[in-house]
Formats: sequence, structure tokens, C-alpha cells
Amino acid sequence: MRKAEGRRKIGLLTSGGDAPGMNAAIRAVVRTAVANDIQVFGIKRGYEGLLAADIHEMTANDVSDIVYRGGTVLRTARCEEMMTPAGPERAAQVCNVLALDGLVVIGGDGSFNGAAKLARHGVNVFGIPASIDLDINCSEYSIGFDTAVNTGMDAINKIRDTSSSHERCSLVEVMGRNCGQIALWCAMAGGAEEVMIPEFKEITPDVVKRQILENRGKGRQHNLILIADGMVDIEQLSREIERITGIESRSTILGHLQRGGAPTAADRMHAGMMGHKAVELFLSGARNRVVVMKDGKYDDLDIFEALEIEKPYDHRLYEIIKILSI
Ligand code: F6P
Repeated sequence: MRKAEGRRKIGLLTSGGDAPGMNAAIRAVVRTAVANDIQVFGIKRGYEGLLAADIHEMTANDVSDIVYRGGTVLRTARCEEMMTPAGPERAAQVCNVLALDGLVVIGGDGSFNGAAKLARHGVNVFGIPASIDLDINCSEYSIGFDTAVNTGMDAINKIRDTSSSHERCSLVEVMGRNCGQIALWCAMAGGAEEVMIPEFKEITPDVVKRQILENRGKGRQHNLILIADGMVDIEQLSREIERITGIESRSTILGHLQRGGAPTAADRMHAGMMGHKAVELFLSGARNRVVVMKDGKYDDLDIFEALEIEKPYDHRLYEIIKILSI
């Protein structure tokens, strides 16, 4: 495809784990760019597609009917080559050959790390935070979290119906291998008795068993325990709970169910606003920015500074969940 004289070009990719709302962000980037006479090139399968120059021009019509769909129409991947020193250098060369004036990356911290490496090779990059885990340090919100929590809560509501009918203990594993926010929010929204998360390892299987026995002493008929992915073997924990407490237990792993589904209105709103802002930043002449949520407002940060930010774990949410579960 020949570049029309004078028109600026941006590339657009989604990278890392997909998140509901990525499509709404793609739509916002494409439509804002087209409205400002910028050509947009969609890159398939994240950085893998960039390295393979797997790109195609996207028109306003190409993003019709995607605002409500989960996943990402651009596909996504985790790219090993970007972890090597040669990968980013080669990817930057591809951007050069394609004459991209900017590259918009929708993804999480890993994807922003890749973008920062490209920035060091002269590519002008713009990040949009998307991850169901709410684990992006530089932003208070990441697109996909609200949908993932609501999906988890719907499942938990159903599990509670049968669990309370049978007076059982329910163990529910949710996503978030390195970040317990989905588990904490699902615990609060689902009225759980206990939560196991990577940030607070004091809640061991023994603590959970003791808690269940204590709850039975207080007349509690059923228990709901939320567990973040990777904390324990929940099938085994379920069997141990039955053996030690005598209370029937069942385990459910929600798994990738939580990564899919139509994005909630909140996720579509954030995706629309953040996607629009990324292109506005490009238009303003800014370089190497990440769109973030800061103090409840849409904001932006230098990508290198953004990657230095640490997000301390706030234990207060866990404490309140425990108070509400007495
Ligand atoms: O996208 C984040 C996440 O879903 C984590 O919660 C989970 O631990 C991980 O990705 C699973 O990754 P994979 O796509 O490799 O199964």
C-alpha cells in the first residue's frame, strides 16, 4: 500500500493476555486517527506480527461491530524474541521500513516494556493499559478488570446457590497469578469468608481449615473461599477440608472464562477514552507516553517513568472483607 503524500501513519497492536475492552480501544484508536487524517495499520499477534511485518490498513468501517466483543480482533501473543537484545532492534527496523510515525501498544506491563525497548531504538510509542488483573503499576485502572470481576461474580452467585442448598464449602479459583485484585474484588462482591492471594501468603491451607471450623462453631452453614490462580492445588485443598472438618467441599476453577465475554459499560468507556487520548497525544507531538488513570482521571506519563512506578499492596480491602464476613 502506497502512503498518501504527507499523511502520517501509526501502527496498532495488542499484546500479552487479551482483555475484554481491547476491541473497544482498537475502535477508539482507529476512529480518532481516521477522523484526524492519520493512516492506521493494524499489526496481527502483537510483537510477533510486527517482527513479521504482518500489517494491514484499518479503515473506520473495519472497526464496526467490535465495541461489544471480548478478545481482540488483532489477535495477541507473548513474544519471546522481544526478550532478546536483537528482537527490539529488528522490530524497530521494521517500524522504520514501514515508515510508522507512531506505534500504539494495547497491553500490560510486559507489553509496555517491549514498547520502551522500541522507544530506545527511536520508535515513538504510546501505551494503553489493558489487563484483566489490575496489575499495571503505573495506572489505577486497566481495561478488562471490571468485566473479569463481573464474570467472576456471576459464576460465584450461581455457585453460592448450590453451595448453600447443600451446606457445603465452595472453593473458587480466579485468575491473577501475580496479583490478587480479582480475588479480592470477587471476595467482596461475592461475600466470601476467606481469600488466598499472592500478596498476603499468611492465609495458608491450615488457616483456611481453622477458619471453616470456627465458622461452623458460629453456626455458619456454608463457606466461600476465593483463591487466586497459582496459590494452591484447590482440588487437594477441597479434599483436605472434607477430611479435617467433615464439611462437604467442592472446587471450581473459573480460569480463562474470566478473560472472555462482552466488556462491561465501564470497560467500554475506559477503552474509548484511553484509545482516543493515545491518538490525541500523538497529534500533540508528544513522544513515548502511556495513558493512565491517576486520581480517578485520565492522564499520561512518560513510558520510562511509568515503568519505574511501584504499586504497593493495600491490605485494607482484605481487612474489610474479613470484617464483613464475621
Ligand atoms: O492476562 C492475565 C492472566 O490471565 C493471569 O491472570 C493468568 O495468571 C495468566 O494471564 C494466564 O496466562 P495464559 O494466557 O498463559 O494462560
